[in-house]
Amino acid sequence: RRHLLSTQDLAYDDALLVLDTAAELARVADRPVRKLPTLRGRTVVNLFFEDSTRTRISFEAAAKRLSADVINFSAKGSSVSKGESLKDTALTLEAMGADAVVVRHQASGAPHRLAHSGWIRGAVVNAGDGTHEHPTQALLDAYTLRHHLAGGRGDLAGRRVTVVGDVLHSRVARSNVHLLHTLGAEVVLVAPPTLLPLGVEGWPCETSYDLDAVLPKTDAVMMLRVQRERMSTAGGGYFPSAREYSRRYGLDAARLAALPEHALVMHPGPMNRGLEISAEAADSPRSTIVEQVANGVSVRMAVLYLLLGGSEPAIGTDDTSGG
Ligand code: CP
Repeated sequence: RRHLLSTQDLAYDDALLVLDTAAELARVADRPVRKLPTLRGRTVVNLFFEDSTRTRISFEAAAKRLSADVINFSAKGSSVSKGESLKDTALTLEAMGADAVVVRHQASGAPHRLAHSGWIRGAVVNAGDGTHEHPTQALLDAYTLRHHLAGGRGDLAGRRVTVVGDVLHSRVARSNVHLLHTLGAEVVLVAPPTLLPLGVEGWPCETSYDLDAVLPKTDAVMMLRVQRERMSTAGGGYFPSAREYSRRYGLDAARLAALPEHALVMHPGPMNRGLEISAEAADSPRSTIVEQVANGVSVRMAVLYLLLGGSEPAIGTDDTSGG
């Protein structure tokens, strides 16, 4: 495999390999010097055309922990503002010797274009493209679910995950539906009818408009950010009002209490506190929101290691990790 573009084309064995490798690499974080020499001499470019906090920083941390050189490119403040195209930007990065390009773009399909254009030779990792996919987010979510619900081993067979909210605009929802299905979990999407995409009947999941009916039977509830910035775009979904949305689809204290005792509360971030999730739910002991961010570093280390085929084992005896 040369690129990671979507979870829809990620096979069961490949998904488990990423999760198992991430679990091995997570052990590095417990060591005094948290760095491996595995990708020394390789260059990872973070190519971000859209804003990001978690994804960009954790890819940078992941690459650095594997000793890769990291170049951070942000469209803001670059020659993209002068009209430079994706192609010319890619050719510029290629000239600088990128071994992997981690790309976030507002246009669905931009990472596929980069991967199949011939403009760059390196591996392409989709860090979120438009409303299409965000595969490393789904992998870190699966890692978190597996840790809590499956003892950190195997798949998620028989587990029930409820994904709630603005599915229409959510690349996180799309990637999660496909990956969780591949890993054997049952997924229920809960959203207002206006925030479910056309064609959702063909996705490998159930759908519901009734959050209160679904919550008591869930092992994890994954709240989605309401993407108000995308609502005004063509075909962009109808958002009733913040109050009405919270009342019908927000995770508040009462709904938190309706969850089974073992159930997890997840959110990919960034959160709209008080809209799709209350502070009480976000900060509750069953919330894995901060843990998801930490797991993202291990998962992204695994992805970079597997794609770039590190010259040494991911965990070697001659590493610099001090342990
Ligand atoms: N979850 C996520 O993709 O967050 P960022 O937009 O901050 O990267």
